[in-house]
Amino acid sequence: MYEATATAPVNIACIKYWGKRDTKLILPTNSSLSVTLDQDHLRSTTTSRADESFAAGDRLWLNGKEETIKEGGRLGVCIKGLRAWRKQVEENDSSLPKLSEWPLRIASYNNFPTAAGLASSASGLAALVASLARLYQLPQTPSQLSIIARQGSGSACRSLFGGFVAWREGSDAAGSDSLAEEVAPREHWPEMHALICVVSDAKKGTSSTSGMQRTVETSTLLQERLRIVPGRMDAISKAIQDKDFESFAKITMVDSNSFHSVCLDTSPPIFYLNDVSKSIIAVIEELNRSSGKIIAAYTFDAGPNAVIYALEENMPKVLGAINKFFPTAEESEDPFRTTAEDLPASF
Ligand code: PMV
Repeated sequence: MYEATATAPVNIACIKYWGKRDTKLILPTNSSLSVTLDQDHLRSTTTSRADESFAAGDRLWLNGKEETIKEGGRLGVCIKGLRAWRKQVEENDSSLPKLSEWPLRIASYNNFPTAAGLASSASGLAALVASLARLYQLPQTPSQLSIIARQGSGSACRSLFGGFVAWREGSDAAGSDSLAEEVAPREHWPEMHALICVVSDAKKGTSSTSGMQRTVETSTLLQERLRIVPGRMDAISKAIQDKDFESFAKITMVDSNSFHSVCLDTSPPIFYLNDVSKSIIAVIEELNRSSGKIIAAYTFDAGPNAVIYALEENMPKVLGAINKFFPTAEESEDPFRTTAEDLPASF
């Protein structure tokens, strides 16, 4: 039996991917850019095994529960693509075991809530692709592997890299240039930190797949967004290169708001933010105003949870503001805790 394990972290987009121009190949309507979180507690870990003696057919378990691998489905497409690359390796070296012909057993775990707007599909699919690439000893680069991961879940292609990552939309109809690449490694800007505020760990209402499809079909505002995003991609890449936090933060916040506006412009409308999410926006806007400069940036994916980016030196201030307005269950026993009326009045 041959076995390989790989882990992949969650990534959080600053320029959001929202909309597909090809739903089968998962080709996006715009390029996107994200930060890969390097905390140990937001990861997927996948172990893949190949053995000649396994009963026919591949099988996969996610958090201990078996999932069906459908022929032509997302998991099936990823496994098929990687197997085809392994076959090429075997054709070039006949001394290698014929792993490509053996059934697979794959087990994947997330150490955080699945499908709660915390991009579990991104880390999950990236870990799957990385573990199979290791099992099959593939020579492909992470960018080439990202073409396969993209077909499992679009944003997964970005989780194959650490640090600051761009997913280039590409122009090829077959998707050969729609891939992820590193904009800057984590070490370039280690002061950049992310705070995750879990507003709700319930499964999200509208999946990103059906939400995107509805937006592409019905939103006129999406066309305006697609016109603006290329400029934002250039500007945020420059902000990252220059370690210019204020520019990075402004673009991150405006793009999150643009994405949620496009969701609202969808028919029927999609609401991912709840009242707590909106209060977090108010608190961060007020924190930036009272600091006299932008020290924190919020961003929200397809769910109510907030991710707040700030430089390490400012994180205590951000945490102070969040804890003040959003006490945890224990702290809220305190009769003197802050109430909703204390929230900044400007929102
Ligand atoms: O890859 P998906 O289908 O889970 O879509 C992710 C979409 C957003 O998280 C909302 C934005 C992004 O770029 O990650």
